[in-house]
Amino acid sequence: MINEQVNNNAQSEGAAPEVLDFRTSTTDGDLDLYKLTQPVFFVGFMGAGKTSVARKLARLAGVAAVDMDTYLERREQKAVKQIFAEVGEDGFRAIETEVLYELAASEPKLISCGGGVILREENRAELKRAGCVVYLQVTAHEAASRIHDLSTRPLFGDLDHAEQVAQSRLALYEEVADITVNTAGRGTGSLAREVFSILRKKGVLWQPR
Ligand code: S3P
Repeated sequence: MINEQVNNNAQSEGAAPEVLDFRTSTTDGDLDLYKLTQPVFFVGFMGAGKTSVARKLARLAGVAAVDMDTYLERREQKAVKQIFAEVGEDGFRAIETEVLYELAASEPKLISCGGGVILREENRAELKRAGCVVYLQVTAHEAASRIHDLSTRPLFGDLDHAEQVAQSRLALYEEVADITVNTAGRGTGSLAREVFSILRKKGVLWQPR
C-alpha cells in the first residue's frame, strides 16, 4: 500500500510546495517503487484529465506528482482566476513560464501542466528539452462535461469558444508530444495504466533492483 501524503514541510525546506509525494511506504509495505529518469509533463486541453491521470500514475508507480496550477497558486498566494483578473492573460503566462522552468529543474516528477502552457515558444522548447511529454487528447465537448466549475477556467468560455481555442492549439500540443493518448470515453485509471506501461517500455520509469 502507498500512502498519499501532502508534503507540508516542503515550503519550509525550500522545496516545491504542493507536491504530492507517493513514495512513502506503510510499515507492511514492500513497494514496487519506480524511478523517473526525467520529468514527465502532461499536456492537453482543459478537462483532458491531466491532473487525475498524473495522480493515479503517481500511485501506481510510487513517484511524486505536482499540479502546475496548484503549485502556481500556492507560490502566488492567489487563485488562477484572480491572477487573470489582476494582470490579464499575459501576466499569468509570464508566471506560468517561471513555474515551468522551476519544476523542470527540480527532481524528476510527474507534472500536470495548465492547458495553455504550449502557447509560448520558449515553453514548448523547455518541455521538449527537459523531459517526456504526454499529450492527452480531448474534445472541447467532452472537456466541458468533465469540468465541474467552468468559472475556474477563465479561458474556457462557452462551448463554441472552447472549440475554437482547442482547435487553434492542436498543432502546438502535437508539436511537443512524445506520447499521444486519446481520452475519448475512457476513465482516468485506464489512462494512467496505459501511460504507465508506455513509460516503462520507454525506460522513463524504471525499477531499481
Ligand atoms: C488554461 C488552463 C488552465 C489554467 C488557466 C489557463 C488554458 O489549466 O492554467 O485557466 O489556457 O488552457 P487546466 O488545463 O489544468 O484547466
